[in-house]
Amino acid sequence: MKVVTHNLRCTECGTVISGDAVNSIFRCPQCNGLYDVIYPWSANVARPASGPEHNLPNASALRWLWQERRTSTMPIDQSGVWRFRDLLPIVSNPDKVVTLREGNTPLYDLPRCAKAVGIDWLLAKHQGMNPTGSFKDTGMTAALSVAADRGFEWVACASTGNTSAAMAAYAARAGLRSIVFIPEGKIAWGKLSQSMDYGALTIQLKTDFDGCVRILTELVTRFPIYLLNSVNPYRLEGQKTPAFEILEQLEWQVPEHIVVPGGNLANGAALGKGFNEMHHLGLISRVPKISIIQAEGANPLYRWFMDSNRIMRPVKADTRATAIRIGNPASWRKAANVIDAMGGWCEQVSEQEIALAKAQIGAEGVGCEPASAVTFAGLKKLVALGKVKPEERVVLILTGHTLKDSQYTIDYHRGELLTEEENAQISSADQILHASLRKPPVVLDADPDVVLHALESHMKMTQTV
Ligand code: F0G
Repeated sequence: MKVVTHNLRCTECGTVISGDAVNSIFRCPQCNGLYDVIYPWSANVARPASGPEHNLPNASALRWLWQERRTSTMPIDQSGVWRFRDLLPIVSNPDKVVTLREGNTPLYDLPRCAKAVGIDWLLAKHQGMNPTGSFKDTGMTAALSVAADRGFEWVACASTGNTSAAMAAYAARAGLRSIVFIPEGKIAWGKLSQSMDYGALTIQLKTDFDGCVRILTELVTRFPIYLLNSVNPYRLEGQKTPAFEILEQLEWQVPEHIVVPGGNLANGAALGKGFNEMHHLGLISRVPKISIIQAEGANPLYRWFMDSNRIMRPVKADTRATAIRIGNPASWRKAANVIDAMGGWCEQVSEQEIALAKAQIGAEGVGCEPASAVTFAGLKKLVALGKVKPEERVVLILTGHTLKDSQYTIDYHRGELLTEEENAQISSADQILHASLRKPPVVLDADPDVVLHALESHMKMTQTV
């Protein structure tokens, strides 16, 4: 007998369907809304008339179990996603779990960034330290395991690069065939190389990310492919687990703020779900605020947030932070609910602000890709607006590894990233910061005297800054 462990509930109209429904159309037929995965223990789920409410261990037993699994040699215990499988029972057969030992990512402190922004305590949860270099691995292990469990042979996604890298890797591990749709010319080379390396059929469409989504949405109605974009609610089940890890790493002390970059807007929603579930289950006594930061050139959520009528209007997206170059985000409603319900804020940041924030995070020895740096750029605004107080504890979610987009970093340090017009708009205080952070490579003759001379003048220069 198959035990149904979960259902899918439409986040717009509340219609519930069975978690066994096997198809790739992750939209409610009544209202076109997206689904959330719900469990017998989720908030607002009708309890059975008789029998136990749910068979979950209590809060302290769960904490102990999750910690204990870290010492196990079993792959699903070593995964920082499946270690928490009690709260994501989505795969009927644990042998079908496809894992690259994702999760268990570091929580770094950023003392110099904290000082620069005027707060006491700043941490970065570095999701770029996942196997394919981005937070997408946590969601992909979950949704791809469901695909394998349900017997799909083909999987596909539209992507700005990181989802495709993660999907290609996990599909290869599972022996499934994968198709990647990416916008031609608008993704970082490192990411493109990953999907080829992992053996995906890589299709560069002559359109943007939003155009790729349109084509794939049509394709899944005509071909038996399992859709692995973040409209697939199982992705969010994996992506909620960093919330569990952050609390574990902070010995269950809840930080005041989590700051997340916003593109297609599933990640903020997933983390919100994770914190809310822990609160509902009594693992924590309150939830943090979740704020979402967008790039100025790809800011539909920010516009919605600032609009007194609260209308979502897609935009034509453009930013050098190509991972979040998205104008029509699928999960905007879920993310908006998280901001509203958890008391967060939404901000936008310019190309200059992203470049500076990325260099500041890099200078702490941590590094991240441009889309992740919007978090620190946005935090500066949250502090200036009084939304974050100096004594409050903040966690930035760094979503991608610095090597994902090394061209951006090289262009920045060589002074070739921003246009003259963009440079002219930078304040004199930030100009000084940029000048102290830029480290262009120096080309010298292979002569010790020349090198020594260059070192001496470099030391003189840096002493005066
Ligand atoms: N940061 C990075 C590094 C990303 O790759 C993405 C999304 C985001 C932030 C935004 O997350 O979409 O959940 O709001 N990248 C997707 C992709 C769209 O295809 O790799 P989101």
